[in-house]
Amino acid sequence: MIKKNIIFYIGICILLFNSCTKEQLSSCSTNKRLADCLDFYCGNVVDLDRMDSIPEYASIVTEQFNSVTAENIMKPNALHPTRNVFDWEEADQLASFCQASNKRLHGHTLIWHKQLPPWMYAFQGTKSEWEEMMRDHIFRIVDHFKGKVTSWDVINEAFEEDGTMRNTIWLKNIGPSYIEKAFQYAHEADPDAILFYNDYNIVLNPIKRKAILDLCIQLKAKGVPIHGIGIQMHIFNGFPENNDISKAMDEIWNQDFIIHISELDVSINVNGTEMPVAPEKDLDIQAEKYLYIFKAYDRIPNAYKFGITIWGVGDRDTWIRYSSNRDDYPLLFDDEYQPKKAFCTLISEL
Ligand code: G3I
Repeated sequence: MIKKNIIFYIGICILLFNSCTKEQLSSCSTNKRLADCLDFYCGNVVDLDRMDSIPEYASIVTEQFNSVTAENIMKPNALHPTRNVFDWEEADQLASFCQASNKRLHGHTLIWHKQLPPWMYAFQGTKSEWEEMMRDHIFRIVDHFKGKVTSWDVINEAFEEDGTMRNTIWLKNIGPSYIEKAFQYAHEADPDAILFYNDYNIVLNPIKRKAILDLCIQLKAKGVPIHGIGIQMHIFNGFPENNDISKAMDEIWNQDFIIHISELDVSINVNGTEMPVAPEKDLDIQAEKYLYIFKAYDRIPNAYKFGITIWGVGDRDTWIRYSSNRDDYPLLFDDEYQPKKAFCTLISEL
């Protein structure tokens, strides 16, 4: 948790209140740093190509946030392209940027069913050979970034919506114990790293949430080094309901798990209709949704706050446009990297 001088906070907040009141939202400036309004980390997901080629993108990442998650370059296909070759180049560049700019780096992700290198999908072996392969994968990566990466999403998206375990190559070849083993291997490589289970629809789907929480509780009781739960939070203006967001967070920290809102974006186009321009009324609702989430998160005990990470800088960067092929405007900055109502509301109200 960030420990800052209270007087410094008060000074900054007075400054923010005066310079970005609701009446001034249309001209709200980015001179104020979002991360400075908060007593928890606030991050964004980073794409190195955009950092290098879009100055506005780079300056928002550098100036507004104090935590970083790699959007793709720390996934298995990027870091471990062939069985005996690890490619550290791009992730090392990101780690250097984080060190030079004093930002926390969160590792995403060690074990997933997507974005694995082809050799991993094709791997043949006994259960113990699969365990050894998974151990080598996790150990080498976590060990490489020891001291540079604070925390890892060790397991990403291992559950289906009905609460059953997803039938991944890991489950098929190792069995359900792959999850606890993955956490153990990561912990062996870096005993100081904060280790997360990360998933989507944790708020929206109580069945999935219960399945995840039950497993995490059970593993923790066995002494497995699992410290937190990443709530991805790819959500919509209309849902989940605000009360359900608070309720889900309460359930998680009450079970002694740190919470990372790890991939926040708020979509405004639930029906996927043609939307060449974002309607003002939807941007107003989106701003209130962001504000609710930040305030609700702020209310949980400090010991359980790992931070909030936004999943994208400007709307033109969002994964939703190319993955879901719909017009959408889910982020804090618009297509031209100008602050949106959501950003201005956060820095004026927090
Ligand atoms: O790197 C290739 C490039 O070589 C190729 O020319 C290009 C052509 O399509 O594709 C590039 O790969 C894309 C990759 O992003 C890098 O840009 C993939 O097609 C694209 O599918 C991939 O999307 C990523 C997605 O994960 C994949 O599952 C998104 O950027 C990324 O934001 C998204 O992030 C996930 C989290 O990791 C887990 N939670 C959900 C979240 C959103 O889906």
